Amino acid sequence: MIMTTALDMDLSIVVLAAGQGTRMKSQLPKVLHTIGGKPMLAHVVATAKTLGPKQIVVVYGYGGQTLKAAFSDEAITWVEQTTQQGTGDAVAKALPVLPENHRVIILYGDVPLISAQTLRRLLNATPKSAVGVLTVNLQSPFGLGRIVRDENGAVKRIVEERDANDIERQIHEVNTGIFVVEAKHLNRWLPQLNNKNKQGEYYLTDIVQLAVNDNVPIVTVHPSVEHEVLGVNDRLQQVEAERHYQRFIATAFLKEGVLICDPLRFDLRGTLQAESDVKIDVNVVLEGDIILRKGVQIGPNCVLINCEIGEGTIVLANSHLDGVKIGSGAIVGPFARLRPGTVLADKVHIGNFVEIKNSFIGNASKINHLSYIGDTTMGQDVNIGAGTITCNYDGANKYQTIIEDEVHIGSDSQLIAPVRIRKGATIGAGSTVNKDAPEYQLTLTQQLNQRSKSWERPKKTPVQDKE
Ligand code: UD1
Ligand code: MG
Repeated sequence: MIMTTALDMDLSIVVLAAGQGTRMKSQLPKVLHTIGGKPMLAHVVATAKTLGPKQIVVVYGYGGQTLKAAFSDEAITWVEQTTQQGTGDAVAKALPVLPENHRVIILYGDVPLISAQTLRRLLNATPKSAVGVLTVNLQSPFGLGRIVRDENGAVKRIVEERDANDIERQIHEVNTGIFVVEAKHLNRWLPQLNNKNKQGEYYLTDIVQLAVNDNVPIVTVHPSVEHEVLGVNDRLQQVEAERHYQRFIATAFLKEGVLICDPLRFDLRGTLQAESDVKIDVNVVLEGDIILRKGVQIGPNCVLINCEIGEGTIVLANSHLDGVKIGSGAIVGPFARLRPGTVLADKVHIGNFVEIKNSFIGNASKINHLSYIGDTTMGQDVNIGAGTITCNYDGANKYQTIIEDEVHIGSDSQLIAPVRIRKGATIGAGSTVNKDAPEYQLTLTQQLNQRSKSWERPKKTPVQDKE
């Protein structure tokens, strides 16, 4: 005979997300507020997926359109709860989509840091027909449902703060809201719930008492760390959860050998792939998808959005890089601004107050000071003098600048696109170039120095005495 263990059973995961989130004081549905740049609900869904459920059901109340649009690539079964009549009512709304033979995990959309590891422990500890409750002992259990146990330590019921008596309020073990229970039990118990309590709500927690009445065992498990079950109801709790999350990520990277100089001043709002000997200094914000190859160093106060940075490249302090690909051995910054479509080949040097957009900069070329390079293709070994500007925009259209290998552009030059500076050309300082410059020649467009013996310096007009 083959025994069916609890782990073999098909799993449905129900995420409760119908609460309005009034305390966030925001137009956005609460579960779309982010932790680490990702909506809270996306964290919960990602964790849920690692448990291999047959389906993920989200019970929503507000902003259905916005929610569904934000999760259009996910296979989610959406269930609407039009009026929020309590957690028991919310789960009851999902009953029609829960197959009778499934086990069900109930999660909250506003408890984003719950780990797959803790949920797996809860699943493993709960026999097939039992009810598993994730509980936690809190110093300050205020506002939460208390776990009431009998003299043998068996769970009898869960009482909400507002319905609890003085003795029950002394209990420090609280309900996190996370349950494992068979769908067939839910089908039997949820219709029996009533709303005769202080909040006039259908409490999911009342299924515990119904389980006890039916001799169904109750198993409790604690999360690995307390912050896993931190619920986010306001901005303060959001930033607390954010710091826990960042600390967790930074610790994981430190263990992988990435030097994050201060894990308290590290912010990853997307994904990071970092190879060995990468160093990330303080106050760096990483957004989108970031790839840092071996030995990359990111200086303090840099912002990187969707960047791939090659081996040994150094990004110095206060640089802002968005949509950029950089080769190996390059130096960027301090105070560089690289905008989308910037590609730097190997050993390129970009200095302070240089802005580059939608341009390719060839091997070992240097743009070291105060320049704007836009819509440009630049060859190798080019030197761009301070204050050079590619004039790529005539107010209506954008034009390309091509700068071939070994070109030298003198300081304070303007290159009026479309224009091509041919191989080895030199542009004299202060030139305004609006025609293609020939190979290996000097192009000089500025007025040469003029002198005048008759010129006099202007003098201040004397102030007339008032009479
Ligand atoms: C609930 C638990 C409490 C537990 C606490 C943990 C009940 C009755 N109480 O209390 O024991 O200690 O969570 O945080 O279950 N939701 C809906 N529809 C509703 C009501 C709630 O989807 O009608 C969702 C909310 O969006 C939220 C979750 O369920 O994600 C919990 O709701 P909340 O109102 O915060 O429950 P609490 O009263 O805090
Ligand atoms: Mg709550």
